[in-house]
Amino acid sequence: MPASPGRAARSLRRVRTVAQVRAAVAEFRRRGESVGFVPTMGAIHSGHLSLVERARGTDDRVVASVFVNPLQFGPKEDFRRYPRPAARDRRLLAAAGTDLLWEPAVTDIYPPGDRTRVRVAGLEERLEGASRPGHFEGVATVVLRLLNAVKPDTLWLGQKDAQQALVIERMVRDLLVPVRVRRAKTVREPDGLALSSRNAYLDATQRAQAVAIARGLAAARGLLAKGSRSAGRLRQAIRAVWRAYPGVREDYVAVVDAETLEPVKRVRGRVLVAVAARVGRARLIDNFEWGRA
Ligand code: PAF
Repeated sequence: MPASPGRAARSLRRVRTVAQVRAAVAEFRRRGESVGFVPTMGAIHSGHLSLVERARGTDDRVVASVFVNPLQFGPKEDFRRYPRPAARDRRLLAAAGTDLLWEPAVTDIYPPGDRTRVRVAGLEERLEGASRPGHFEGVATVVLRLLNAVKPDTLWLGQKDAQQALVIERMVRDLLVPVRVRRAKTVREPDGLALSSRNAYLDATQRAQAVAIARGLAAARGLLAKGSRSAGRLRQAIRAVWRAYPGVREDYVAVVDAETLEPVKRVRGRVLVAVAARVGRARLIDNFEWGRA
């Protein structure tokens, strides 16, 4: 029977190795329970908790993982300083109703001698991939390993990382991974800033500037709602908002086909309006999807 959203939080069991997570999930299976999975890199915020909440709605048991995956960080990126508030993460995940928390060590996921990588060609080089070469190879490789260990019924991902969700959906489809992938909508601060573990890098001044990212997207959405279909005009509208916020440095502003991530000139069918910008030492991304396939 699927879990009801009002279910009381159960006690959180923690495991470390692949064998342990498999054994714990096997216990759920013996009882006939379905499993929803929320992979994370920790630094848990309300966006992650909304995924746990959604997973509670689709499956009997919720498994979460916390693993800061070295393979998806470039050599100059923030792997070392990525926030790792382990005790707080455990508390938040437990309170949200996570049943099982998997906290693997690097060698559990990448055993010595490991050589295998997963590439989703054609999707991984665009947008984030252009700025962060190798990033999606790291994401696809770790997510396939996590899925092979947990074997969940449902995998929950956030729309904020739309390209990540697309890469994983394509990998799951192409490699016949028996899991249903679901996306949950982006959770935002009251002023619109998308929740992200990297928001922790912002000081108060930078935080005030970062709101421009969502405001730019809102301007583009407003144009679409008024009937504008020119991708160029949408990009201009976003940049016009950002010009008033000198602390926001553009990485990219893109209007792309939501399935192929190829740039479009005019908005037809489903498109993704996606942006990335640096604010202080944080690199932040956000997006929205528009239209139907
Ligand atoms: O979105 C994230 O936190 C990570 O990219 C993921 C999916 C957990 C893989 O490391």
